[in-house]
Amino acid sequence: MKALVYHGPGEKAWEEVPNPTIQDPTDVIIRVETTTICGTDLHIMKGDVPAVEKGRILGHEGVGTITEVGSAVTNWKVGERAIISCVTACGTCQYCRQNLTSHCQTVGGVGWIFGHLIDGTQAEYVRVPFADTSLYKIPEGVTDEAGIMVSDIYPTGYEIGVRDGGVKPGDVVAVVGAGPVGLAVMATAGLHGASRIVAVDLDDSRLEAAKKDFGATHSVNSGDADWKEQVLALTDGLGVDVAIEAVGIPATFDACMAIVRPGGQVANVGVHGTPVELKLNEAWIQNIRLSMGLVNNVTGEMLLKMIAEGKMPVEKMATHAMKLDEIMEAYEVFGQAAKNKALKVILKAE
Ligand SMILES: NC(=O)c1ccc[n+]([C@@H]2O[C@H](COP(=O)([O-])OP(=O)(O)OC[C@H]3O[C@@H](n4cnc5c(N)ncnc54)[C@H](O)[C@@H]3O)[C@@H](O)[C@H]2O)c1
Ligand SMILES: [Zn+2]
Ligand SMILES: [Zn+2]
Repeated sequence: MKALVYHGPGEKAWEEVPNPTIQDPTDVIIRVETTTICGTDLHIMKGDVPAVEKGRILGHEGVGTITEVGSAVTNWKVGERAIISCVTACGTCQYCRQNLTSHCQTVGGVGWIFGHLIDGTQAEYVRVPFADTSLYKIPEGVTDEAGIMVSDIYPTGYEIGVRDGGVKPGDVVAVVGAGPVGLAVMATAGLHGASRIVAVDLDDSRLEAAKKDFGATHSVNSGDADWKEQVLALTDGLGVDVAIEAVGIPATFDACMAIVRPGGQVANVGVHGTPVELKLNEAWIQNIRLSMGLVNNVTGEMLLKMIAEGKMPVEKMATHAMKLDEIMEAYEVFGQAAKNKALKVILKAE
């Protein structure tokens, strides 16, 4: 089969590799029909995620059809279609049982393994371990383009941003970073009753999209010299209740710390490749709470219900559609997202 193989920082190729086979009785093999590229894949390409070894097939989002089923799989049959969760969960270890599947002990202590510790979904076929507890059924009326948003970005935005960020009814929420993940935070902040949702980014077209299609009520370009004052003017002057970081660089973490109010919370969603300075000497006296994490993807079924009922903006997230074998070009398009006005680039097998 063909797959997108990582060959070290800055190096990748769409090349011929052996097809995956069932290795454990809890595996299935899926023919990937729809996949996409994540901001995290760009971090991997920069060398920010050193655990990814040369030769690894990238990708952790996908929708497809099951072509082979291991002998211990009970929930799935050949020919059924599924959404692949970016987090693999055995379902029975101590962490899985407390919904902290991102640390599934059975898969090695980090639940995100696709395109990281095992071969991923940017390929014609993928092996899915623990299929019974790591795949979602596709509800009626949910397209592949909508369903794939539940592989990673909507659960990430909701679980790590909104839910773990402690968003409450009436809160003013700022989301720094209006990429697909930040937009997913904005799209799901209404589930917890945010009153104002302020999108912060350097890219005006993403700020426009945030307001038009993903639930942001206001936007501020953080390239403006007075961006912080603009955000504070949207609160009672004290700062936002919850500031959510969805970029993954020190500057945007600092931005969140600069706009959160005393007693508020900073929720870090971005994947950081370098250390970030935590100015505890300034933050302690503000009673700031700080949260962060790797998505567990335990809210996918709830999100799929909302999507199926048309209660969750997803359809504008897929801005580009390309063929799976055009994935090298797709990385260029997504890598220069601002120039190309790209959110998610959807790749379809023929
Ligand atoms: N915690 C998790 O489990 C998890 C899961 C998936 C993705 N992520 C991470 O979430 C982050 C966002 O992912 P994405 O796919 O949306 O990425 P992306 O690169 O598409 O979007 C990042 C956005 O940040 C903006 N930006 C860059 N520098 C900025 C600055 N100085 N000020 C304001 N905005 C700035 C960009 O214009 C862009 O819109 C990434 O770090 C990704 O690795 C985390
Ligand atoms: Zn991702
Ligand atoms: Zn587990």
